[in-house]
Amino acid sequence: MSEKPIPRTFESLGPMSGYARVPGDKSISHRALILSAMAVGESRIEGLLESEDVIATVAALWSMGSQIGQDSNGNWVVNGVGVGGLLQPETALDMGNSGTSARLLMGLVASHAITATFIGDPSLSKRPMGRVIEPLSKMGASFSVTPGDRLPLMVHGRVPAVPIEYRLPVASAQVKSAIMLAALNTPGITRVIEPERTRDHSERMLAGFGAEVGIEEVDGERVIAVTGEAELRPHNMSVPGDPSSAAFPLVAALLVPGSNVLIQHVGINPTRTGLFEILREMGADLTYENERDVGGEPVADIRARHSALTGIEVPPDIAPRMIDEFPILFVAAALADGQTVTRGLDELRHKESDRLAAMARGLAQLGVPVEERPDGLTITGSGGEKLKGDYATPHIATELDHRIAMSFTVAGLASAHGVTIDDIRPMATSFPSFPPMLEDLGAIGR
Ligand code: S3P
Repeated sequence: MSEKPIPRTFESLGPMSGYARVPGDKSISHRALILSAMAVGESRIEGLLESEDVIATVAALWSMGSQIGQDSNGNWVVNGVGVGGLLQPETALDMGNSGTSARLLMGLVASHAITATFIGDPSLSKRPMGRVIEPLSKMGASFSVTPGDRLPLMVHGRVPAVPIEYRLPVASAQVKSAIMLAALNTPGITRVIEPERTRDHSERMLAGFGAEVGIEEVDGERVIAVTGEAELRPHNMSVPGDPSSAAFPLVAALLVPGSNVLIQHVGINPTRTGLFEILREMGADLTYENERDVGGEPVADIRARHSALTGIEVPPDIAPRMIDEFPILFVAAALADGQTVTRGLDELRHKESDRLAAMARGLAQLGVPVEERPDGLTITGSGGEKLKGDYATPHIATELDHRIAMSFTVAGLASAHGVTIDDIRPMATSFPSFPPMLEDLGAIGR
């Protein structure tokens, strides 16, 4: 990231039209690299997300012995070290802004005979790591960490690690995946019990690499059993577009009058599509076209046409299936007719920023009536009237959070006089090409 913040004003040029692709799925990209690193031999990944978060995972795996490069078609090629084969890194592993890199790699290191130091940027260094330290300690790893369980910290892996049965106290795919990755080099069967369903990319992909992963429903909970001392076969993969990135141009098209946009090749894994379901309930004209399977993940082209939206009460149990999409839902709610009420969102306070606070503050600056509660927001929408921001409105604080930056970019397209965000750099975390894509779709000027 360049050293100084880069502010930018976004305002609508007119209806959005045409088609575009969003970059590869962030969650799937991290997992594709990590599991390839655990296979012996060469795996090829097409469509990998080339963003700062994913490059943090590449660099860490490289420093622990995997060879990672690109072929002449731009596909990524990983020569893995095999389960149990990670090498001692010589320097600290810099996770940048990436919670997924930090938590998944802590799991991987926990059952290897190495010690690794994890560091991160000021946003990541505020985020809770106790949620992975606790189960990984039960598996035998130890941690040098200051009180508060934040980065920087040191993981001392344990060989052989101990298989555990662990019920997730927070609905977190990162915690689930950290345990599953530690389980790969642990003798016996490790079980993770998931009371609330979270994204299941790790389960799907591990099966593709030939690992033994059993999934059972017991009393309404999901029990995931990973057989350890696994041998992973190298595997070629294609990464679908990220639904969490597609959400931004799609919501923009719903909000800008006259728009009709097609976002192609988007993952529609049901553990990720909560936002699209809620938007449809709000009256969005959002349709899946050309549904297909890509390497074990469902994919579609998604069309959005400008729609009049109605406020809604969002059921809290859908939250894990749209956890990254609340910031952009709040922008849609600000343009809807009537109130949108969200609850059960305590986890949003532990993302790249406190997303409830950051969104409430920014929307209030744009004149949106918003009530912030400890676990959610209540937003009274404008009924389609443009948001009020103008050149006198202070810049919206993006707080090193890509999704806050992109949400207020979309708010700018739905505003009367444009919205200025204080920094576009965080978009590089997951969607570096977002502003140029908006230019291509006719949303903003070049
Ligand atoms: C992710 C899980 C979610 C999500 C993050 C990516 C993953 O985090 O917010 O962007 O790839 O497993 P939590 O596990 O903290 O909910």
